[in-house]
Amino acid sequence: MPYSQSDCHRKPSIIILDFGSQYSELIARRVRETQVYSLVMSYTTTIKEILQLAPKGLILSGGPNSVYSERAPFCDPAIWDLKIPILGVCYGMQLMVHQLGGKVQKATGKAEYGKAPLHINDSNELLNNVTNGSTMWMSHSDSVQDMPKDFVSLAYTSNTKNAAIASHNRHLYGVQFHPEVVHSTEGMKMIRNFVHNICHCDSNWTTATFIDESIERVREQVGNKRVLLALSGGVDSSTLAFLLKKAIGNQLICMFIDQGFMRKGEPEFLMEFFNKKFNIHVEYINARKRFIAKLQGITDPEEKRKIIGSEFIRVFEEESKRLGPFDYLAQGTLYPDVIESAGTNIDPNSGERVAVKIKSHHNVGGLPKDLQFKLVEPLRTLFKDEVRKVGRSLGLPEEIVKRHPFPGPGLAIRILGEITTEKLDCLRDADLIVREEIRKAGLYDEIWQAFAVLLPVCSVGVMGDQRTYAWPIVLRCVSSEDGMTADWSRIPYEVLEIISNRIVNEVSGVNRVVFDITSKPPGTIEWE
Ligand code: XMP
Repeated sequence: MPYSQSDCHRKPSIIILDFGSQYSELIARRVRETQVYSLVMSYTTTIKEILQLAPKGLILSGGPNSVYSERAPFCDPAIWDLKIPILGVCYGMQLMVHQLGGKVQKATGKAEYGKAPLHINDSNELLNNVTNGSTMWMSHSDSVQDMPKDFVSLAYTSNTKNAAIASHNRHLYGVQFHPEVVHSTEGMKMIRNFVHNICHCDSNWTTATFIDESIERVREQVGNKRVLLALSGGVDSSTLAFLLKKAIGNQLICMFIDQGFMRKGEPEFLMEFFNKKFNIHVEYINARKRFIAKLQGITDPEEKRKIIGSEFIRVFEEESKRLGPFDYLAQGTLYPDVIESAGTNIDPNSGERVAVKIKSHHNVGGLPKDLQFKLVEPLRTLFKDEVRKVGRSLGLPEEIVKRHPFPGPGLAIRILGEITTEKLDCLRDADLIVREEIRKAGLYDEIWQAFAVLLPVCSVGVMGDQRTYAWPIVLRCVSSEDGMTADWSRIPYEVLEIISNRIVNEVSGVNRVVFDITSKPPGTIEWE
C-alpha cells in the first residue's frame, strides 16, 4: 500500500488506483473538491485491502502503457465483481474493456491529443447535465473498438467512437478523455455525478471536520507528552503550529533555527508573530556564525546544500537535547510527499515498472530517521491548497497563508559561488525591494515566486562621474501551478524599471539588474 495504516484513520470514500498517470494526484484533488475524501493507492492494492477500507467507489487512473504491452500493469480482475462503482479513465477504461472481454484497438500510429467536442448519446448518470458538444481533453493512442457484453456507448468524438461507456447494471463506467484536467470544461460535473449520484458519497470532507478529527487524533497519540516542532515560517509549518497549539497547548515547543539565510526582517517578524501575537512559544536559535563558517570557500552548489543540511541536523540535535527530552517530533509532511515517496511503481515517462521511489528531500528540515522521536504528521493527508484552507480556518493571517514558497536553505542557494556576509546583506536588500515593488504593483498573489539572485561576477558601470565595477542582480519572477513547471512572469516594463532603479541606487555593491526570461523546463526556478 502506498501509505501506512496510520493514514487510514479516516477511510477514503473514493480510492484512486494509480496506473502511473501524471494525473492521479489531480483526480484525487478533484474528488476532494466535491468534499469527498479520496486517496491514491497503487494498482497492486489487493482486493482484501480495498475491502478493508470499504470505499464507495473506485477510479482507475490513466497510465503510459498499452494493455498489450509486455509491462502493462494489470489489477486483480476480481475488482470488476466487487459491486463497487468503478470509473476507468483512459488506460483505466481500456483495462476494464480488455479484462471484461471487449476489444481495445491498438494504436495505428495516430494518437488523439488535445481538445475535442464530446457528442453525447446517453446522458443518464455519468453524463447527466453535461452539455452536448462540451470540450473534453484527449490524450491517447489505443482506443475501445468493441465494448464488453452489457456495455453501452455514452458519448463519442470525431475520432473516438467509444469516448465514454457504461454498464449501468454493473455500475462500471469508462471515459477515454481526462475529466480531471482544466481543459475538460465540464469534467467536474462528471466527477460530481460519479461521486455523488453513482457512488452516493456524502460531502463530509471539510476543513472543519479535518481540524476536529486531527485535534482528537493528536491528543490521543501524544497524551500528555511534549512535542517539538522545527518551525520555518512557511505555510506548512505555521499551519501545523496553529493546529498543534489548539490540540495540545503548551505541550508544543517550537524551535526556529536561524541559519543566517533568511530574508530581511524575517526572524524578527516570526518571533514577534508567534510569541507575542499568537502566544505560541518559539525558541529562537541563532546559528548564523556556525553556518557561514562552515561554508567558507565552498562554491559547489551540491556541496553547499549538503553542508547546510548536515549543519542543520547538528544544531537541531544539540538544541533538542537542550530543550528536551521530547518523545514526539511534529513534521509538516504533505500528501504529495507521501504519494511520491511510496507511490506508484511505474515510471510515467518510460512506462516501466521501477523500484519504489524514496523522495530525496531537498529541505534542510528533512531530518534523519535515526533520531529517537515518534512522528506527529497531521497534515500528511492534505494537498497544499487544503493546508492553506486549514491554516486560514485556524486564524493564520493571509500574509502567511499566501506566502510565496521559500527554499529551506534560503538565500544561500540564491548566491552563486562562495557565500559571504557581504553578499548576503546585499542580496537581502535587493530581495526586499523586489518584494515591496511586486506587492505595490498588486502582482504578489498572481506570481508563484518573485526574488533576486546574486551573481558573483563583476561588470563595469558608471554612476555619477564614477566608474563602477560591481555585481549584477538577477530578477526571477515565475508563474506556476505547482513548481514542477513554470513560465517567466510578464512583469510590466514600468514595474521592472522601478525595481531596477531602486536596486541599483539603494543596494551597495550592485550596478546592474537583469531579468530572467527562461521557463522551466529547460531552466529551474532557483538558480543555485
Ligand atoms: P527548482 O529550482 O527545482 O525549484 O525549479 C522548484 C521549487 O522548489 C523550491 N525549492 C526548495 N524548497 N527546499 C525547499 O523547501 C529546498 O531546498 C528547495 N530548493 C528549491 C523552489 O523555491 C521552487 O519553488
